[in-house]
Amino acid sequence: MAEVPHIITAVQFTPVNMEPIFFRARELRALDQDPKSRKEHAGRFLGKRAVNLFYAESTRTRTSFELAEVAWGIGYSSTANARQFSSAAKGETLAHTIEIVNQYNPDLIVLRYDRVGGAAEAASLVDVPIINAGDGSGEHPTQAFLDAFTIQEQLGRLDKLQITFMGDLRFGRTVRSLAHVLSKGKNNHFDFVSTEDLRLSEDIKELLDAVPGITYTEHFHASALTSILPRTDIFYVTRTQTNLGAPKLQENKFRVTSEVANLLPSHAILLHPMPIDREDPLNSEIALEVDRHPRSRYYRQAGNGLYIRMALIEKILEGEPILAEVA
Ligand code: NCD
Repeated sequence: MAEVPHIITAVQFTPVNMEPIFFRARELRALDQDPKSRKEHAGRFLGKRAVNLFYAESTRTRTSFELAEVAWGIGYSSTANARQFSSAAKGETLAHTIEIVNQYNPDLIVLRYDRVGGAAEAASLVDVPIINAGDGSGEHPTQAFLDAFTIQEQLGRLDKLQITFMGDLRFGRTVRSLAHVLSKGKNNHFDFVSTEDLRLSEDIKELLDAVPGITYTEHFHASALTSILPRTDIFYVTRTQTNLGAPKLQENKFRVTSEVANLLPSHAILLHPMPIDREDPLNSEIALEVDRHPRSRYYRQAGNGLYIRMALIEKILEGEPILAEVA
């Protein structure tokens, strides 16, 4: 039987299999400006059906998946808060919900689950392609895909990079997925900056330890930024994932202000998967003024999500699995 083209983990992605999808996303972004192309695209997958099941908070991921489906003419049903407003609130299990949704003959299921392993479980139950849109503090593969696309576009490569990750490295699934992807770029060096509580988990360190040419250093004091940032190519900052169990910070040691962003070299880019916490001063990781800083690329990064998701959905509906090639 043909392989079902699920997207469950960023382990599936490599610089080689991502490249054609990057190319297609760039093409789709350009064509999206043209009303005639938009109209043509809207007929491409007419009659196909998607179900978007979101058991946890989302703005960008859900909106961009829905709009990617709309752009292709796919009809969809979405549940924005399935934990509270679906039968999950009546005690139904994920397995049962997936089996039921499957009865309606969907062509695609996009799942954000509030626990690790939700997407993998769903994929084990049905032959419908499942896209993992985030599973607890597990992974967020399509975010890593659009992050890698933004890096490739802005810096022209995915290897020989100095990447500084800062913030919640323990509960943040985007860091975990992007570390998987960037561990495949030759000679990348990672600097991980966080409190000791929110340090990178052992499994990702073991993954990096196993790759020849990849090096990394952990730092637990903001003073390290003075020496790290001037040699950084990508500064990837994340929010404290309080919704996923991270303790709230008692002291805001790792905040990016203009002064901090000014330490970056002129070719470097500042990325963030968003949202940025702007409510709680002790946990707000990027000052408002930095949004307009010449190094900031996080709005562009978020915008790329639509075109990467369009390109991934196209590939999936063409029945093509995205799998790491065997060496
Ligand atoms: C991220 C997530 O949900 O993991 N957001 C997103 O999907 N772009 C990061 C976050 O919530 O902090």
